[in-house]
Amino acid sequence: MKVYKVKDYQELSRKAANIIAAQVIMKPDCVLGLATGSSPVGTYDNLTAMYEKGDLDFSSVTTVNLDEYKGLDASNDQSYRYFMNTHLFNRVNIPMERTFVPDGTETDSEKACSAYNEILHSVGTVDLQLLGLGHDGHIGFNEPADYFPDETHCVDLTEVTIQANKRFFQSEADVPRQAYTMGIGTIMRAKMVLVVVSGADKADILNQVITGPVTPQVPASILQFHPNAVIIADEAALSKTDL
Ligand code: F6R
Repeated sequence: MKVYKVKDYQELSRKAANIIAAQVIMKPDCVLGLATGSSPVGTYDNLTAMYEKGDLDFSSVTTVNLDEYKGLDASNDQSYRYFMNTHLFNRVNIPMERTFVPDGTETDSEKACSAYNEILHSVGTVDLQLLGLGHDGHIGFNEPADYFPDETHCVDLTEVTIQANKRFFQSEADVPRQAYTMGIGTIMRAKMVLVVVSGADKADILNQVITGPVTPQVPASILQFHPNAVIIADEAALSKTDL
């Protein structure tokens, strides 16, 4: 794993956007794996600014998102489809039909997961997968477990994740209890993985991810075995790690 230490969230967002932009410029028809949450918002803002300046063209890009809450549709402002449309897709020239997010409206979990796996197989290997890091070490919604799940599956969100995500909802009761997520196997098969981590509240878990044992109890620790994993973290997030 390569770890880049940056000063703050602004620098993190610029650096991550530059790496993604380089990918799009070098391979205009690349497949980008994308994440939601607070961590990549600044990255998407920077990518949008590059597009507006005329420096970036998304017209041939395909995107696959990591996850979606079960039960939320695109019009729900807490759905990850809504998030992606708002923070990136509606702001750049990506063809909407080549942006993929698991279907939160499909109530049959098996159907939803196999449909998303089919999409993932049809778009081919992800060139660059962007990730945030959960407080319990999750990536996508792959929560601490006894094994590393391979492909898309339905998960019960942990209490830690429900608590972390309730800030986006009117009340804790509104936070969905289940989600569909890309598996760890799919993430590990991406040619490059780019993790963005910001803030002192992530310092403990980030230290475990970088220096601890590889274990499904800390799902992101598997990235130690990825041949091309890059972590961009700010000083606060790396405050508990000796580099
Ligand atoms: C989002 C996702 C999650 C988040 C993680 C960190 O699509 O899959 O794994 O990346 O929960 O969230 P933030 O960035 O809000 O701290």
